[in-house]
Amino acid sequence: TPAPAPSPPTLGFQSLPNSMTDAAVVPAGYVAHILGAWGTPLNSLAAEWKSDGTNTSTDQANATGMHHDGLHYFALNNSSSDGLLAINFEYIDQDALHPNGATLSAGKRPVEEVRKEINAHGTGVYRVRRSAGRWSIVKDDAHNRRFTSATVMDLAGPVAGSPYAVTPFSPTGRQTRGTNNNCGNGYTPWGTYLTCEENWAGYFRNSGTRSADQDRLGVGRSSTRYGWDTAAGDASEVDGEFARWNVTPSGASAAEDYRNEANTFGYVVEIDPYDPTTRAVKRTALGRFAHEGAWPGNVKAGQPVSFYSGDDSRFEYVYRFVSEALWDPADAAPSNRLATGAKYLDRGTLYVARFNDDGTGAWLALREDSVTRDGRTLGAIYGNLANIILNTRGAADALGATPMDRPEWTTVNPLNGEIYLTLTNNSQRTAAQLNAANPRANNVNGHIIRWAEDAGRDSFKWDIFVFGSDAGATAETNRSGLTALNQFASPDGMTFDSRGILWFQTDNGIDGGRSNAVAQSTNDQMLAVVPAAVKNAAGAQTGIDASNQALLRRFFVGPNECEVTGVTFTPDNTSVFINIQHPGNWPYDTDATLAAPSGVRVRPRSSTVVIQKADGGAIGV
Ligand code: FEO
Ligand code: CA
Ligand code: CA
Ligand code: CA
Repeated sequence: TPAPAPSPPTLGFQSLPNSMTDAAVVPAGYVAHILGAWGTPLNSLAAEWKSDGTNTSTDQANATGMHHDGLHYFALNNSSSDGLLAINFEYIDQDALHPNGATLSAGKRPVEEVRKEINAHGTGVYRVRRSAGRWSIVKDDAHNRRFTSATVMDLAGPVAGSPYAVTPFSPTGRQTRGTNNNCGNGYTPWGTYLTCEENWAGYFRNSGTRSADQDRLGVGRSSTRYGWDTAAGDASEVDGEFARWNVTPSGASAAEDYRNEANTFGYVVEIDPYDPTTRAVKRTALGRFAHEGAWPGNVKAGQPVSFYSGDDSRFEYVYRFVSEALWDPADAAPSNRLATGAKYLDRGTLYVARFNDDGTGAWLALREDSVTRDGRTLGAIYGNLANIILNTRGAADALGATPMDRPEWTTVNPLNGEIYLTLTNNSQRTAAQLNAANPRANNVNGHIIRWAEDAGRDSFKWDIFVFGSDAGATAETNRSGLTALNQFASPDGMTFDSRGILWFQTDNGIDGGRSNAVAQSTNDQMLAVVPAAVKNAAGAQTGIDASNQALLRRFFVGPNECEVTGVTFTPDNTSVFINIQHPGNWPYDTDATLAAPSGVRVRPRSSTVVIQKADGGAIGV
């Protein structure tokens, strides 16, 4: 007889009130400490962080990066006190990074500043250990390493080895340098980290005629995000390290033609955190777009493995990759993790979602023989699978996918396999563009949608789990009946823990001004809810509405100007790691809940915050 289903856990903390201070806030009985703030040395090659911005590019290459985002805890020997943190450093704040912000000289960025910026981007892996209730980085541990926007990486999947990936650096098209705008993340059932390239396109420019994919993805025309390309031609430049950000087709020799560099960005990147001798691998089969994250579906022996990934731009899509290989439970502890990654992530089918208004949905395959709405095939339009991947967005258009309100993170309920997706907001959706899955015009608050796969088929059933809103909005806007104790807007980071508690975070654009009613009431936050407990009056599973909204509780509020993003738990759920990105005047102390005294300014540092119960108990219950 099967074991009875465990009853859902009950949240054991009181929902926090709104907060707008220069400090983090946690419920009574919890503590919150800083871990690995920007510039923390990972090894002895880095000088200690300096509060005047004078650390060098070499320091930065050997220290934690900037603008922490997705992260994942990988236990060592199943320990909840000793593990590896894999973490994304999405982008930079030039004013905080340099002593006097970004500088220009005769239209050129100084090479040392550019190298420091390149080294502040990317991903990191480092050992973290808990001692006497405090987590810290184990400096000089053999696992510690950084992947920057210059680190050599392998390409795998359909684009690898194709003419589209041939660059002066890699004439075979099988390698590239760097990853950037690593936003959301994922992990795999075989023990690797997935880091996802989101808003990378603006780091490149093409001042000639942009290709269709460059146009759709937003490759720059006359300038790049931080002007790294302007340092090209400096006497110290190595292998076009600066020139390659300018992908304008060149009449110069092949050795100086960087037109294909941008074709090697926009992917999900796999990292083996446990083996520091391995390279990162860009898994191109999962598509090329503004990847937010990449989350695995629950695995079943003998079934394909699925990964879900949002494309975060207004009116973009959500994707599913399904492996050709069938899951072998022995691969949960493989001898070679990246070979296992190749088995499941390099061959398979990429699909894009269509949400029908009747609550059903369909997965549309991006294959050469897929028939488009106008009766052609993707193969006829794009020629081959590598070019379909390069043009993922265009191929999804041709198939008739549903444009969404900015797909951010995906996560999967470990108890029943349902997939959740944050749709952060879309102020540009008009009344004429509404559909059942994106039902509010001028959607400044966002919502969370979820679906259950129809087993073995390319279809699913969906519903909306919760609508963001300010508490004072009309019922038409505040469809989930939120109050001052759980109002939120712009859901973004999200994970289920192993007990079936859903945790989600907000990125409400507060650093850009408190531009909506929620942002005028509270800083960004993390909330928790147990979906298995959310039912209607008849006892049926449902979304959040006025009758059950109290089940959604605010667990954490961040300091002024920040976004709260990235969330991962130790196996025993006694520590949760989250990231504070782009704070305004924080951290002041190693205790994340202490604010700078009035009138005191600190150089802001994005940071991981570790939250524990003061008594060491399990989080949330
Ligand atoms: Fe980097 Fe979509 O958030
Ligand atoms: Ca995000
Ligand atoms: Ca966001
Ligand atoms: Ca961000």
